[in-house]
Amino acid sequence: MIPPMSQTPSEIVENDVDLVLASEHLREIRHSYDSWVIRSYVWARFVIIHIDILELLDRLAPKRGKILDMGCGFGLFSLFLAMRSPERSIYGVDLSENRIQAARRCAEKMRLDNVQFEQADICDYAVGGDWDGIFTLDLLHHVRPQSRQDFLRTARDHLKPDGVLLIKDITTRPWWKMAFTWILDQAMSGPCHVWYQSVENQTEELERFGFEVRSRSFKDRLPYPHVVFHCKPRKES
Ligand SMILES: C[S@@+](CC[C@H](N)C(=O)[O-])C[C@H]1O[C@@H](n2cnc3c(N)ncnc32)[C@H](O)[C@@H]1O
Repeated sequence: MIPPMSQTPSEIVENDVDLVLASEHLREIRHSYDSWVIRSYVWARFVIIHIDILELLDRLAPKRGKILDMGCGFGLFSLFLAMRSPERSIYGVDLSENRIQAARRCAEKMRLDNVQFEQADICDYAVGGDWDGIFTLDLLHHVRPQSRQDFLRTARDHLKPDGVLLIKDITTRPWWKMAFTWILDQAMSGPCHVWYQSVENQTEELERFGFEVRSRSFKDRLPYPHVVFHCKPRKES
């Protein structure tokens, strides 16, 4: 295993005008959604989680090439990454047709032609070709362990040798943060099954599927136990 990331998102972007730029880009995306409900959701989300996370994801993402965003929701992160580098081609996939439609309308309004969206279930999605990046943000705890493992295998098979798998998800410690997140998940998604896993289990699973893994937990204003896993296909020796 390669060592954990040694900096917090804030340290990585400290003294950097990029944070101001990230806020401006986020504001532009927010105002381009045609529904006030989505605009409010995006606003609330970035009152709760630090803007630094957008900047961190942008830095960890390949600067050019094809990036697949599985479970992209309203396309917020896909739109942001597309905006930050026109040399990226982003492809967002989500189960919800409504969210995909909203993401498409937003991209159209922003005249972003390097991002596309498709409605599909990641559990039976046929990922074709080779990708420079595969992302899944706040999704994997919503899918069954078997589907999660199928997804990791697919990601390993379809990432280029120097590609990046980026996962942002929930972990199990401290228990009271996990309990808080469970209550919010039930409130937001209705009664639903969730599969939270410890950082150790997630790391061990990713390594088993052939990735070198770095992980970093970070603090939100609300007590979510978030972790980002930055994974690269292990080079065969
Ligand atoms: C918590 S939201 C995260 C959305 C987005 N990644 C973000 O961070 O803004 C989880 C998303 O996963 C989607 N989702 C849940 N199960 C899915 C599945 N089996 N296939 C594709 N998308 C799924 C939901 O529709 C929802 O938009």
